[in-house]
Amino acid sequence: MAILLDSASLADAAAAAELGFVGGITTNPALMARETGAPLTQLERLLTAFPAGPLCFQPVGDTASEMIDQARAAVALAPQRVVVKLPATLEALRAATALRAEGCHCALTAVYAPAQALLADEVGCKWIIPYVDRAARQSLGGLVVIDALAAILTALDSDTRILAASLKSSQQVVDSILHGAHDVTAPLDVLTGLAAHPLTESAVAEFAAAAAKAQAGAQ
Ligand code: E4P
Repeated sequence: MAILLDSASLADAAAAAELGFVGGITTNPALMARETGAPLTQLERLLTAFPAGPLCFQPVGDTASEMIDQARAAVALAPQRVVVKLPATLEALRAATALRAEGCHCALTAVYAPAQALLADEVGCKWIIPYVDRAARQSLGGLVVIDALAAILTALDSDTRILAASLKSSQQVVDSILHGAHDVTAPLDVLTGLAAHPLTESAVAEFAAAAAKAQAGAQ
């Protein structure tokens, strides 16, 4: 399993690198738009701020050719690390097919339909990315989508992995894995929240108090 950060912020990337358990970063055009500078410039900065692991970059454009041009420029920055994230549309699938032929790593994103897993496998995508919370907000059942994707990819003995995204809570992260996602991506606050439990905090306080008391008694 890999735990990824879903953010285009340099501060988030640096903080995630310090956590130790974060294995990569996903971005999207909306997250990039919150930052200053062109998306490719920000991608380059993110590659430095988070020095190891995959970094997903999502081109924008109406045609496969526009997406391919942007993807090539992104991949050229770090061919082994950049994963081209493309929405599950026919035009983007054309782009993904061409990019795969060039050896680029690709991911199929904004996935809601189980049938899209067939296409991700066929094109040879590293990841298929269902949007769990967005699906839940539309009463589609994000976890039901993951169930179906997992069943299809298992039936195909596929190398494509499910990267659960649009995760807004620890519970959604845990449920995604329990329903068959291989990997997860979430904002920094959700990732740091994975360690949070009030009883853990009270146990730590209790141990610290006991250690301090023992130390005081030994002096
Ligand atoms: C995933 O890669 C996307 O960036 C992201 O999770 C989209 O969902 P959200 O906008 O609901 O967070």
